[in-house]
Amino acid sequence: MKITVTINEQAFDNVAAWRIIGEILNKPKAVIGLSTGQTTHNMHVLISRIYQENPFDISQTTFFGVDEVTNVPREYKGACYTMLKDQLIDTLGVKDNYFIMPPTLSDDFTKECKLFQDQLKERGGIDLQVLGLGTNGHLGFNQPRTPFERETWLSKMDEVLEARIRKETNTPDNKELGGITLGIRNIMQARKILLVAKGKSKAEIVQKMLEGPITTDVPASILQLHPNCEFLLDQEAASLLSIEH
Ligand code: GLP
Repeated sequence: MKITVTINEQAFDNVAAWRIIGEILNKPKAVIGLSTGQTTHNMHVLISRIYQENPFDISQTTFFGVDEVTNVPREYKGACYTMLKDQLIDTLGVKDNYFIMPPTLSDDFTKECKLFQDQLKERGGIDLQVLGLGTNGHLGFNQPRTPFERETWLSKMDEVLEARIRKETNTPDNKELGGITLGIRNIMQARKILLVAKGKSKAEIVQKMLEGPITTDVPASILQLHPNCEFLLDQEAASLLSIEH
């Protein structure tokens, strides 16, 4: 396991941004999985800024998001598609066929899950997957007790996120919300993973993820078994670890 602890948030964003840019520079045809949320927002904006100042070739790089909210308009500002476009994809000028996202609306999500997964396979599989970490240990929308062998599927969100999205989109309680997510198996098949977590609110789950047992109760604990996963933390997120890193 490679654990990197940065001295502050700025360094955290900087390291993450350069890990992603480095992957693109090393392998222009790379397939790069992104993740949305508060943790990744600034690193995306930083990549955009670096690109504007010193453009690099992204014309053959495929980008995708690890998950997507379902049953909301794609233009909703909390949809992963729109967040990634606003933070990064549009600034980089990524062409539509190099940005792969499941739709937010569909009458056959099972088909969409398979299509999403197949498209990534056709591009040669995932080179680098960036992952945020839920405070309950979720990866993408794989909530606690999701079987480790699960492939891309339509899952539930955690209650806090669901309540926020319902409010922001005026979605009534009788209309189901969910999330398409790469399954744990797909995530574990990525050649490289960058797990990012910052802030005090993540300290407890970071400790469980890295020093606790590997269990579906903490989906992210499976990453202990990935041969090429870097855990990028700030000092607050790393504060409950018992070993000096
Ligand atoms: C959501 C996303 C996850 C992300 C997580 C972390 O649940 N579906 O992919 O990892 O949020 O969010 P934050 O960085 O805001 O804590």
